[in-house]
Amino acid sequence: MKWIQVKNYTEMSQLAARIMTEKIAEKPNATLGLATGGTPEQMYRWLREYSAERQLSFRDVQTFNLDEYIGLGREHPNSYYQYMRTHLFAHIDLPEAHAHLPNGLAADVNAECLRYEALIEQAGGIDLQLLGVGKNGHIGFNEPGTPFTSRTHLVQLTESTRAANACYFSSLEAVPTHAITMGIATITKSKEILLLASGREKANVLAELMRGEVTEELPASVLLNHANATIIADEDALAFSIVAKRK
Ligand code: PGA
Repeated sequence: MKWIQVKNYTEMSQLAARIMTEKIAEKPNATLGLATGGTPEQMYRWLREYSAERQLSFRDVQTFNLDEYIGLGREHPNSYYQYMRTHLFAHIDLPEAHAHLPNGLAADVNAECLRYEALIEQAGGIDLQLLGVGKNGHIGFNEPGTPFTSRTHLVQLTESTRAANACYFSSLEAVPTHAITMGIATITKSKEILLLASGREKANVLAELMRGEVTEELPASVLLNHANATIIADEDALAFSIVAKRK
């Protein structure tokens, strides 16, 4: 795994957006794996800007988001579909039928998970998967202890994850208790992975990751064995890792 240290959130966002833009320039029908959360917000803004500057089209791109809350439909203001609409989809020419997220209202959740996996396969697999990382090392909604062999599945959100996301809802109670998430094996099948981390609140988890132990107790550590994974992290996120990194 490659580590890239950048100065701050803006540099992280710009570099990630350049890599995403380059992927679309290189492969106009690329399949992109997308993430939500605070971390990639500014990256999406730069992606819109850089792709517009280069007059790149998303017409033939397909996107697959990591996860979606159970119980929230696409039109719900807190659904990840709405997040994506706000930050990316409304601003680009990606056909609506090419923007995939798990269906949080599916009557049969298991069938929905299988459908999502099959769709990714049909699209030829994910060329470039964007990830954030939780303070506990989760990727997608795969919390510590999730098997590395997991595929898209139903998860019960941990209290710490619900609390971390409560700022987007009217109250903690309003945060859904379950979600559908790509599994860890779904994520690691991606040809290339880009994990972004910014801010002091990620410093502990990156220091853990830098110790180099691959364990299901730290889901992001699976990336240490991936052939083409890069972490772009800013100085704050690497505050406790720099010494180890230079060893
Ligand atoms: P954040 O979430 O980008 O809002 O910090 C990251 C994650 O939990 O994966």
